[in-house]
Amino acid sequence: MSKHTIVVCDHIHDAGLQILQNTEDVNYVYAADVDKTELLNIIKDAQVAITRSSTDVDEKFLNAAVNLKAVIRAGVGYDNVDMEGCSKRGIIAMNVPTANTIAAVELTMTHMLSCMRKFPYAHNQLKIDRVWKREDWYGNELYGKKLGVIGFGNIGHRVALRAKSFEMDVLTYDPYIPSTKATDLGIKYTTNFEDILSCDIITIHTPKNKETINMIGFEEIARMKDGVVLINCARGGLYNEDALYENLKSGKVAMAGIDVFIKEPAIDHPLLDLPNVTVTAHLGANTKESQREISVQAANNAIESARGISYPNA
Ligand code: MLT
Repeated sequence: MSKHTIVVCDHIHDAGLQILQNTEDVNYVYAADVDKTELLNIIKDAQVAITRSSTDVDEKFLNAAVNLKAVIRAGVGYDNVDMEGCSKRGIIAMNVPTANTIAAVELTMTHMLSCMRKFPYAHNQLKIDRVWKREDWYGNELYGKKLGVIGFGNIGHRVALRAKSFEMDVLTYDPYIPSTKATDLGIKYTTNFEDILSCDIITIHTPKNKETINMIGFEEIARMKDGVVLINCARGGLYNEDALYENLKSGKVAMAGIDVFIKEPAIDHPLLDLPNVTVTAHLGANTKESQREISVQAANNAIESARGISYPNA
């Protein structure tokens, strides 16, 4: 029996790996820990590649992947996949669109609460410094605050609903939905971006593309309230990183909760030096529940597309 080669380029949950391993007509190669040069060598035999955010499916990757029929994104975003390059070569790209929704929503709420109560600093003061100084940590409440949600898709609309349960005043901006999608859920809808800029807290949930890169920059931040809180658990670069840095430094932006960076891993990023930023290392999709489900769906999609049976979510 001829076997299909499926290369797993990034870390995915064991559940998906087991499916690949137990599939007779699949030869699966785990290449999550190899360097880029080795990956380019391995990828030449692949009919299907499974990737997360750490692998760029760029020109070099596609040129090396001479047998590739499909790229499976074990996640939502295609921003690290050269979609034009794929379609020129007849390579199908497909994602797993909803399995990490809740994980991303809950991380967003975590960052929001964490920023408002300055949680990491209060935690570190007691746990690491062994200092008990309650007077250092007067936070703010979500209750009654105006939250601007940019992007009302799978993730944005669930963030809005959770924020409502905190009795926040929630407003969304998304030119691609009918207003009733929000208003039916009791969420205010606006087509005027200025309304969003006037919120106390702003969170962004859009894909990264030409329209959304630097959507919030120096000019937009200048028009925001002093002391605004900004959250980004979507994609690095939706908030212009220089603008974010300068305005956090000046205090115009009081706090930011950031999970994603333009260049990852972001271990030397200037934002990490600022006291008023809570950061995580692109963990939006990282719950056991979501990673199990994503890896199972990605493995099944990979097998089906290797066999040429079907192309779900292509
Ligand atoms: C996504 O696009 O869903 C995530 O960024 C995937 C990941 O965590 O690698």
